[in-house]
Amino acid sequence: MNTDNELATLAFEVRENAYAPYSKFKVGAAILSESGAKFVGCNVENIAYPEGTCAEAGAIAAMVAAGETRLTEVFVVADSKQPVSPCGGCRQKIAEFGSSDTKVTLANLDGVRVTMTMDELLPGAFGVDHMDVDHKDRD
Ligand code: THU
Repeated sequence: MNTDNELATLAFEVRENAYAPYSKFKVGAAILSESGAKFVGCNVENIAYPEGTCAEAGAIAAMVAAGETRLTEVFVVADSKQPVSPCGGCRQKIAEFGSSDTKVTLANLDGVRVTMTMDELLPGAFGVDHMDVDHKDRD
C-alpha cells in the first residue's frame, strides 16, 4: 500500500469517530510527518460552538504531542459533494508545520480526490518571514 492510500485509509477510519452532533458533518484527517510517522484527527464539536476543533487540528496536535514538528503530506475527507476543503484556520495550521510544496489531498466519500500544494491552498501565506523574530524553536 502506498503512502497516499495508507493516509486515505487512516483518514476514512478516523472520520467515523468524529464527534459532530451539531453540524452532522464528520471530517477525518491524516498527516505524514517528516520521520514517516502518521497521525490522525477528527473534528470534535462542542455545544459552545466556537470551542469545536477541526480534524486537521487534532491530527497536528497528535503529531506535536509525539514530538514532531514537520509534516510532509495531509489527507482530509468528509461526506461532501466536492472534496472537502480545509478551512482557513486549518490552512494556516498546516502551513505552520509544512512548507509551500506540502501535498494536501482533499477527498469525499465518493472517491473524488483533489491534490493541491499548500502554496495553492494558501497563496501569500502569513509566515515567519513577515515577522522579525528569532524562530529557532520551530526546527
Ligand atoms: N471541519 C473540519 O474538521 N475541517 C475542515 O477543514 C472544515 C470543517 C469541521 C468543523 C465542524 O465540526 C464541521 O466540520 C462543520 O464545519
